[in-house]
Amino acid sequence: MLSQAAGRSLRDDRDEIPEVDAAGFRMSMRHLAGAVSVITVGVGADRTGFTATSVSSLSAEPPAIMVAVNRTSSSWPALQRHRAFCVNVLADDQQFVAERFAGRDGAKGAERYDGAAWRPLATGALALVDALTTIDCELEEAIERHSHAILIGRVKAVTTRTGAQPLLYWHGAYRHISNHTG
Ligand SMILES: Cc1cc2nc3c(=O)[nH]c(=O)nc-3n(C[C@H](O)[C@H](O)[C@H](O)COP(=O)(O)O)c2cc1C
Repeated sequence: MLSQAAGRSLRDDRDEIPEVDAAGFRMSMRHLAGAVSVITVGVGADRTGFTATSVSSLSAEPPAIMVAVNRTSSSWPALQRHRAFCVNVLADDQQFVAERFAGRDGAKGAERYDGAAWRPLATGALALVDALTTIDCELEEAIERHSHAILIGRVKAVTTRTGAQPLLYWHGAYRHISNHTG
């Protein structure tokens, strides 16, 4: 059901709409279904990464994407050091990789890469073998805003896996497409 405020003219009632608090905002964002990616950054022992649903296409000419990263995460200083990252869009059989890179089992840094197969990319970041698609990026710009930084990635290379389905996240849980047509 629409809220009373949504039913009225936004133009007329703009001043009456209360400021949204963090809890209300989070509640709203739970409705935003998203693809699940793992962002990899760094090389050798100096590598880490994080699970993200904030990946979005920015432009096709030139190929560019954006991702929001929390500046308290271990990936933020690594991104600033390495100036490159890879977006690994997960397939629906890769939920365990999402859990690792979200830090759910306590794994940190290079440990998060254990248990899955990776290959090195031109930028130095690692790509998850059998990801739905991988997007190797140079960090063009990082815009620090509020708690996060918006990473603008200039795409250097992509790979794709055919015949697999995406891993999705919605209402606080991983989801799978159940009525796909192939
Ligand atoms: C489904 C899902 C989506 C997430 N999306 C993001 C995101 O877009 N940006 C972000 O900074 N953290 C996101 N996180 C949280 C990070 O994955 C998590 O805080 C991070 O891996 C912890 O980092 P650290 O232990 O390296 O500091 C998400 C977590 C989950 C489970």
